[in-house]
Amino acid sequence: MNNRLLIIGGLTTLVLILVIAYLVGFWAWIFLCLVALLLVGLAIWDLTQKRHAILRNFPVIGHMRYLLESIRPEIQQYFIERNFDGKPFDRDTRSIVYSRSKGADDHKAFGTERDTGRIGYEFLLHSTAPVAPPEKIPTVRIGGPDCRQPYDLSLMNISSMSFGSLSKNAVVAMNKGAGLGGFVHETGEGGLTKYHRGNGADLFWEIGSGYFGCRTEAGRFNPESFAEKATLPEVKGITIKLSQGAKPGLGGVLPGPKVTPEIAEAREVPVGVDCISPASHSAFSTPREMVRFIGQLRELSDGKPVGIKFCVGSRTDVLAMCKAIWEERTAPDYIIVDGSEGGTGAAPLEYSDHVGTPLTEGLMLVHNALVGTGLRHMVKLGAAGKVATGSDIVKRLIQGADFTMSARAMMMATGCIQAQKCHTNHCPVGVATQDPRLTPALDVEDKSKRVHNYQKLTVREAVQIMASMGLNHPSQLNTRMLRRRVDHLNTRSYASIYHWLREDELLNEPPRGWAADWREADADHFGEHAPVGYLTEPDPQWRNELDVQTSAMSLGDLRASLRSGETQRPVPTPAGSAGAHAAVGAGRGGEPARKAAASSAAGSGSGTNSAGDRRGEGQSEGEGEPRSEGRPPERNAEEKDIDGARPRRSGSDTGSTPVVSNEPRPEGRLGS
Ligand SMILES: Cc1cc2nc3c(=O)[nH]c(=O)nc-3n(C[C@H](O)[C@H](O)[C@H](O)COP(=O)(O)O)c2cc1C
Ligand code: SF4
Repeated sequence: MNNRLLIIGGLTTLVLILVIAYLVGFWAWIFLCLVALLLVGLAIWDLTQKRHAILRNFPVIGHMRYLLESIRPEIQQYFIERNFDGKPFDRDTRSIVYSRSKGADDHKAFGTERDTGRIGYEFLLHSTAPVAPPEKIPTVRIGGPDCRQPYDLSLMNISSMSFGSLSKNAVVAMNKGAGLGGFVHETGEGGLTKYHRGNGADLFWEIGSGYFGCRTEAGRFNPESFAEKATLPEVKGITIKLSQGAKPGLGGVLPGPKVTPEIAEAREVPVGVDCISPASHSAFSTPREMVRFIGQLRELSDGKPVGIKFCVGSRTDVLAMCKAIWEERTAPDYIIVDGSEGGTGAAPLEYSDHVGTPLTEGLMLVHNALVGTGLRHMVKLGAAGKVATGSDIVKRLIQGADFTMSARAMMMATGCIQAQKCHTNHCPVGVATQDPRLTPALDVEDKSKRVHNYQKLTVREAVQIMASMGLNHPSQLNTRMLRRRVDHLNTRSYASIYHWLREDELLNEPPRGWAADWREADADHFGEHAPVGYLTEPDPQWRNELDVQTSAMSLGDLRASLRSGETQRPVPTPAGSAGAHAAVGAGRGGEPARKAAASSAAGSGSGTNSAGDRRGEGQSEGEGEPRSEGRPPERNAEEKDIDGARPRRSGSDTGSTPVVSNEPRPEGRLGS
């Protein structure tokens, strides 16, 4: 078979060569002889090499396979993909980003190409009485009770992407765009570089496990160098990155050759030496330590908002964070949930495809956990994961977010064509490369205007959609307004598909679907530990004892104990860890109380509503009945935000044991 092909291919080439040479004359003969010699050389190399079997069997023409493979994404994108099925972003979405960023017409003729009968299809409900969009675009106030420099954040901002994964031109273009539009540019864990400064943008400085830009020589957190940068006027918030959706639980290595003097300077690491981001933080290893670290950073930054970013893993971990917040009486000012569908410069496919919780589920879980533990009103929630259009923003707001972060759509506004070669240093448009031959092609002035246009028009579209839904403000959104096709005959709203927790429900009476995880969550441990609730043996004696202890805690004493801070940890059962980890609200009993300022800055003012009111009450994983539809929105934002004391700690005792507030929370806010 291969011999026949070789003979046919060889003969055809020979005939072609002869015909062309006859027609063109002497120089053509010389040229063709050279070509023939090269081909013979290539054939000999193909036949003798041992790496590629295909080339040994099909010398010369086997190279076609590699050629076609290399242009496959382009062929797929330009000739095969339909408008709505490209991945990660379909052509329709890319076109909308490109045309908005250029300020061009982003309309489409002749109706949707999507299959509205497909199971999983989602749609927003418009109103029969739409309203005019508000003149002032709504923003979200970030800053809980301990924050002294709250910040009004846009509904859509630039999500973390480090200098290093992006070129300097791309970083500067995004930064200028954010400056023009008055939205936030989050730095990425690669440090706060000179390219992030001086262009007018407000920054959220991201700190990852490598503490780049604020580390000691040994790679640990350095409070002095952190404080120096965190107090810069353009730094408006600090994000502690716990994990990233595309590769949760995985650290990273920037290989030595890529650690250029510029990158080394920004990251405070030696030039040319492998630069390692560990998988986890060295500054904390438990939820409680994490919450204390948040408090420490807030103090070191002179009271700026401090948040965390993570892709949701175990629900127990999220609940453990909530317990730690209660027990330490301080909370992050914001949480950004990154979906597993999120982007990255480079990650193993197994991680991107199969590890971590997708944004919808992760976002609703965190929202629910905060509502159920009565913390939602002081923690603003951000969503990152393929947010590219106005409807994406509205959908995420309904699912629990207060604001959104966008990375790859912002890259597209900067010129990315989704060639997906970010990890090769060969980005053809100069966005994700450090190659000095490729980066100058990215014109900073032009692309900064595009980033600005794109963000402005997309947020405006989101606000317009809300107006079509009859709403003046995101706080009026609720979970009945987003519906999903669940089978070929039925669609259901998010209010009815998911079980949403009521405010304080986990503190008062954890529902069946949550109770085991709530019991197990421990402010002093990340991870799931106890097999409680998953036992198959029929109710052994030790488990009865455990149930008595923990259910008594969770139903009655827990709430009182969280208020009073005097909870005693249940005595561990003979089974050891199960009992220990079932401890709930094991607070810092006996510490002096400090009265919380009930009407402090937590999200009041221009911010969106804070808790379950606009979105129902939260989600559980399949257990519990669906809530009935048709419930009216329950309360407005202002009513809720000024309502009630909140976990509170002293603003000055950085890094040490915080002062606990034992102030009871008013009854009036429960059971909404
Ligand atoms: C090139 C690139 C680099 C990224 N670098 C970081 C990073 O340094 N820190 C981080 O928290 N997330 C990083 N991310 C994740 C994004 O910030 C974002 O959370 C994720 O891509 C989801 O948003 P998207 O779907 O809009 O891209 C990166 C993403 C991309 C595409
Ligand atoms: S064009 Fe390709 S390589 Fe460049 S940033 Fe976009 S996806 Fe990455």
